[in-house]
Amino acid sequence: MLYRIARAGIFKLDAEKAHDLAIQNFKRFTGTPLDLFYRQKLASKPVEVMGIQFKNPVGLAAGLDKNGECIEAFGAMGFGFVEVGTVTPRPQSGNDKPRLFRLIEAEGIINRMGFNNLGVDNLVENVKKAKFDGVIGINIGKNKDTPIEKGTEDYLICMEKVYQYAGYIAINISSPNTPGLRTLQYGEALDDLLSQLKDKQKELAEKYGKYVPIALKIAPDLDDNELTQIADSLMKYKIDGVIATNTTLDRSMVEGMKHAEEMGGLSGRPVQTRSTEVVRRLKELLGDSLPIIGVGGVDSYVAAKEKMMAGADLVQVYSGFIYKGPALVKDIVNNI
Ligand SMILES: Cc1cc2nc3c(=O)[nH]c(=O)nc-3n(C[C@H](O)[C@H](O)[C@H](O)COP(=O)(O)O)c2cc1C
Repeated sequence: MLYRIARAGIFKLDAEKAHDLAIQNFKRFTGTPLDLFYRQKLASKPVEVMGIQFKNPVGLAAGLDKNGECIEAFGAMGFGFVEVGTVTPRPQSGNDKPRLFRLIEAEGIINRMGFNNLGVDNLVENVKKAKFDGVIGINIGKNKDTPIEKGTEDYLICMEKVYQYAGYIAINISSPNTPGLRTLQYGEALDDLLSQLKDKQKELAEKYGKYVPIALKIAPDLDDNELTQIADSLMKYKIDGVIATNTTLDRSMVEGMKHAEEMGGLSGRPVQTRSTEVVRRLKELLGDSLPIIGVGGVDSYVAAKEKMMAGADLVQVYSGFIYKGPALVKDIVNNI
């Protein structure tokens, strides 16, 4: 109710300004009585996934808290885990504005942010400071000006820097807003990336005496052959988890709507069915060999349940949270 009133005001602002204002307020309210605006007490629904204990299976998807600035606020809302990032080795400003659009009738969002972030060192400092009793996933990517042939180096740099502070590490090769990034999802490029990440994980596990799982985040725009190949590679290299899905380039669900023709990735309700199909197909291909984190259009308890019935072990929300607010987390966690 409270969020519905606040949303009317927030949605009058430009989408990115509203996002920045929300982040600032979350930072400001943390640890003060004002956090009562979003603090909620949820039922405990513990699950073990990728060898990690989660207090509940509902997480915040990557991209909302790119720099890990308000992990505690999301903790107060009851999220079982928060995935911060995508972060890159060096800070970068991302694409020109405007780059974030609401498709209100469809409860969707189009973004072409382009990994705007303050760099991995800044993120690590924020994660170190965060007081959160849930799991922190750190989502890593490559700088725009790193040539794609050298992309793997950026992932390895980030992995080294975040390893000791992450509950798990998410490898983002599926954003449509960094030129060439999605080519890492295919064939030899994927195998080469996964084998190097796995070697680095082994080295760091020995160095720190701690095994931190890695999960690969994939796009919804993959055909069956491509999904089959990805599933084979995930099993071959013993990757610990897969996050399905990122945003879509497909506009068939929003044709004719305001902003539908903006470039970028579409998320929210319009990607819900496709993301669930990808989860279901991955489950068929992977069986129980590695867990699936389902994301894309989770905007209610029923949508979360659908992802889980399709094979997801955990779910994440982004767009649904923008449209429904913190109550969405409560709705899912308390009913699941
Ligand atoms: C504005 C915006 C920024 C995003 N940034 C990232 C990002 O930096 N890294 C990433 O892996 N996914 C990013 N995503 C994708 C989300 O994490 C999620 O996979 C996708 O939006 C589908 O979930 P949803 O329908 O609940 O939004 C972003 C999504 C949005 C809407």
